[in-house]
Amino acid sequence: MGLLVVAIDGPSGAGKSSTSRGVASRLGLRYLDTGAMYRALTWACRTRGVDVHDQQAVAAAVADVRLESGTDPLNPTIHVDDVDVSGPIREQDVTDHVSAVASVPQVRAQLVERQREIIGEGGIVVEGRDIGSTVWPDADVKVYLLADPAARATRRAAEQGGAVPVAATEADLARRDAIDSGRTASPLAKAPDAVVVDSTYLSLEEVIDSIVAMAVGS
Ligand code: DC
Repeated sequence: MGLLVVAIDGPSGAGKSSTSRGVASRLGLRYLDTGAMYRALTWACRTRGVDVHDQQAVAAAVADVRLESGTDPLNPTIHVDDVDVSGPIREQDVTDHVSAVASVPQVRAQLVERQREIIGEGGIVVEGRDIGSTVWPDADVKVYLLADPAARATRRAAEQGGAVPVAATEADLARRDAIDSGRTASPLAKAPDAVVVDSTYLSLEEVIDSIVAMAVGS
């Protein structure tokens, strides 16, 4: 498994994080959450008062941010300039603004370069939107993880402890999918050679089992 790279892409709420961490733990691989990297730069913009719709301002603000992503699947960490932002990046304010920041070409270029450095050390499961299509097209295993919108919203709402109604969560996921799929710089896209896994009617363990089997057979 030493240098294996497993790419897991797909829309929000399809179960990428739990699946990716589970696959990495089972195979003794590292884990990288690229969504957390976009969220961390969004947090940096918001705490600095940068207008996330001003692409030049966003690009300038994030150019010298020091981002550290820990790759232990049992304890993934993320720091911005030595501040632990693993909690704040999950807050609604970051969720509301992350698609705008992720659509800035300089942000993507900066993060894709960093992601390639981390992946290049090998032995890793990477989750995101553009890993198999853009970041690491040579990944040994490429999965596009889907679930139907109602299932995704139900799971996301449960993760939020029932604080947000399922219908509002479904609308928010649809809004983010539309922005993520419609942007010009590496949009959410299934790589032509990715294997589609639909998790709507599968348990987490069943999804993990199927991807572990692909990795072992690769
Ligand atoms: O997976 P997530 O919800 O934490 O991702 C947060 C946002 O980052 C999401 O709106 C899409 C964006 N993203 C991206 O554009 N490219 C990636 N490789 C990962 C996430």
